[in-house]
Amino acid sequence: MLSLINTTSIKLDYKIRLINTEEAYIIRHSVLRVGKPIESCAFDGDNLETTFHFGIFLKNDLIGVCTFLKNSNNLITETSQYQLRGMAILEKFQKKGLGNVILNYGENFLKTKNTQIIWCNAREKASNFYKKSHYKIIGNPFNIKEIGIHYIMYKVL
Ligand SMILES: CC(C)(COP(=O)(O)OP(=O)(O)OC[C@H]1O[C@@H](n2cnc3c(N)ncnc32)[C@H](O)[C@@H]1OP(=O)(O)O)[C@@H](O)C(=O)NCCC(=O)NCCS
Repeated sequence: MLSLINTTSIKLDYKIRLINTEEAYIIRHSVLRVGKPIESCAFDGDNLETTFHFGIFLKNDLIGVCTFLKNSNNLITETSQYQLRGMAILEKFQKKGLGNVILNYGENFLKTKNTQIIWCNAREKASNFYKKSHYKIIGNPFNIKEIGIHYIMYKVL
């Protein structure tokens, strides 16, 4: 059991572990695809052996997820890249430091697998979250239909 003291000094006990695709869908649906069909939660490559889904649990309840897919971005030259997708924490648990801990956990996991770069298509409103975790913007912003402006952001591990 790991623990975290957040900025308001509330101690949260959490666990992080690898989860399956269906578990990831539950949180993606509630946070990233609200009101859309469950099929809209599927990403290409979700079930590949090289894909890793992580979940963060409070008292055995899944409250956040993120997924890492072996996928390269042309704007980045390093060969060993993973794409971060589906970064989501249930609304009532946001801004308590939990997004940061699950992201760091996944980054450390991939570092042990010799990954050099993590990159993502960051929603504009989440871009500061990634900046705080030392991700940098590369290239120009672009629009994803029905979701909005995104930035490509990356981090050297
Ligand atoms: C983005 C998200 C995953 C961040 O998780 P979180 O648990 O709320 O973030 P944390 O509490 O770990 O925040 C870490 C830091 O980022 C900042 N931060 C978090 N979300 C932010 C936001 N939307 N805008 C600006 N800063 C943000 C926090 O203030 C914190 O900074 P601090 O360390 O100086 O206090 C979560 O808010 C979420 O699920 N949002 C909705 C879905 C989404 O937009 N996902 C990203 C898709 S690209």
